[in-house]
Amino acid sequence: MIRKLTPELLDSLPPNDPRAKGSRRDLRIFNAVLGSARWFRHTLPPRLRPGERVLEIGAGSGELGAALTRAGVVTDGLDLGPRPAAWPVAARWHRADVFAFTGWGDYEVVIGNLIFHHFDAAGLRLLGTRMAAQARVIVACELARWPVSQRLFAALCAVVRANDVSRHDGRVSIEAGFLGEELPELLGLDPAVWRWRVGTNCLGSYQMVAERRA
Ligand SMILES: C[S@@+](CC[C@H](N)C(=O)[O-])C[C@H]1O[C@@H](n2cnc3c(N)ncnc32)[C@H](O)[C@@H]1O
Repeated sequence: MIRKLTPELLDSLPPNDPRAKGSRRDLRIFNAVLGSARWFRHTLPPRLRPGERVLEIGAGSGELGAALTRAGVVTDGLDLGPRPAAWPVAARWHRADVFAFTGWGDYEVVIGNLIFHHFDAAGLRLLGTRMAAQARVIVACELARWPVSQRLFAALCAVVRANDVSRHDGRVSIEAGFLGEELPELLGLDPAVWRWRVGTNCLGSYQMVAERRA
């Protein structure tokens, strides 16, 4: 299955559009089923050094960054969308396009959940170069590009009565997902400088932890 990019409907809807709100509700359910926040809470803290700052790109409606901040890992957010009402006061919010953002130098740790699959090879290479300028740790959770993931996702949509935006965006997100070493390679991480671990859980969650070599 070749990686294929299709624009996502949520990205073109105004934040207050009822279909966008419905889709963000569905996304919260999908993330809960995939166990994404639990995985970040388990994976991130042991890798942080004192004083390191964390940025979540594509932070969306803010549940992950808020949960990490509550757990003691203050996480700034970046998204095209506005600062969520529940975003912690202790954390900053950058309303920006990830490719126009100029504050990478402030962050030693960059994380993202379901954001990297939005970008083509050229975009991922550019993003990797920008992040790697300062980052020591990059942690990503995405979707595995498995045909079986499409069947599991369609079944989940039926159970939770996901709306049309979620059904479309989930399907195209799986088509744009990653297999094997694709994500670190597309980001252009140099194996002489970075070591990484990629894995996929039984639900089709693709996880990457990349750390700069000492
Ligand atoms: C599928 S949603 C995931 C949101 C959140 N991470 C989650 O798991 O619930 C993708 C998010 O990436 C954001 N996004 C897409 N393209 C972006 C870009 N070029 N720069 C910044 N954010 C972007 C969208 O606004 C959206 O909030």
